Amino acid sequence: MSKNIAITIVQDNKTINKTYIDLLKQHYSVRLVDIDAILPESFIDSDLMIIQINLNDPNAIAPLKILMALPERSHIPTLFLLREFSRREIIQASTLGATDYTTYPCPEDSFLQLIYNMINKSGKKIWAQLSETQEEALKVSLKVVENTFRNASLGLEVSQKDVKDSCNLIIEATAKDGLTEWMNTIRQHHVYTYRHSMMVCGYLLSFGMLLGLSKTDLQMLAVGGMIHDIGKAKVPLEILDKSTALTPKEIDIIKKHPEDGRHILEKQNWDKVMIDIAAHHHEKLDGTGYPSGLKGVEISDTVRIASIANVFSGLTDKRPNKPAMTAEKAIERMLEMKNYLDFPLVLSFRDVVLPSKINIEQYKR
Ligand SMILES: [Fe+2]
Ligand SMILES: [Fe+2]
Repeated sequence: MSKNIAITIVQDNKTINKTYIDLLKQHYSVRLVDIDAILPESFIDSDLMIIQINLNDPNAIAPLKILMALPERSHIPTLFLLREFSRREIIQASTLGATDYTTYPCPEDSFLQLIYNMINKSGKKIWAQLSETQEEALKVSLKVVENTFRNASLGLEVSQKDVKDSCNLIIEATAKDGLTEWMNTIRQHHVYTYRHSMMVCGYLLSFGMLLGLSKTDLQMLAVGGMIHDIGKAKVPLEILDKSTALTPKEIDIIKKHPEDGRHILEKQNWDKVMIDIAAHHHEKLDGTGYPSGLKGVEISDTVRIASIANVFSGLTDKRPNKPAMTAEKAIERMLEMKNYLDFPLVLSFRDVVLPSKINIEQYKR
């Protein structure tokens, strides 16, 4: 057990028995939030959420429903503390999306064991949520990303065909079973560069579907997302994974990754559009980006879309030196970046990452 593990407890003001809170505080870092005042910022970094709400009170149920439906909540295991083992309470907790439930009070030992198991098994549980097609797509694409980065760092062949094939699997799995669980599972990957590459790939795929792009264009965007940072394979790991602030010299080294990406892909005769994404995803509309200082129309639509997914993924991901931003805050911030990002495209992208319906029917066979 560790104080580095954060538990958020959500309560209503009628909650009577709170003795377990002191027990948890001995082992974990505990944050208390009132159900009427909860925002994604108050739980986004949590390893576990505990809900202790009167499930018979409609005034408490309404905000609880909203909380449970938030995308930021969906990858956090959530324990419901029930007042009694009644059929009604169990069904209500399950319907709302409880990962597990128990009654409270209960013996201290078994309570702590349950908490420990939920925190440590959450990774496995998330994999269990995947359909067979999603699991295959995830396993294959993760392997391909790892191999691609490893080969690029060693100067070996970086196969466009392997990346394209794995992206086709992802597209097929998405058309069949959606992308939500796939993205939630990726979010748990411990290597930032792989996680980021896959997340950008997923966001681009969703974005392409929202824009109604053809399957060929979708594939191109997904591949572009997966390899946009391939140049980072040339950045030493001690700089890439540094948990404290980078020195100006280290920043200069990292800023070389778009050029390195271009060289890696050009050497292997990759399609122009992927090279464009790898080389220019850090350009800004006002010409202050890098490496070429491209301005306005000099930046292609594909690169503009890739830059948006890249910035969003960077803002909403947790790093050792930076907390994760909520999807809503990130979009707000990006809408202010009018000089850098394509404003109308950011507006469209908002529909991808804030709850909305994407028509995936057209991508089914
Ligand atoms: Fe990058
Ligand atoms: Fe990136």
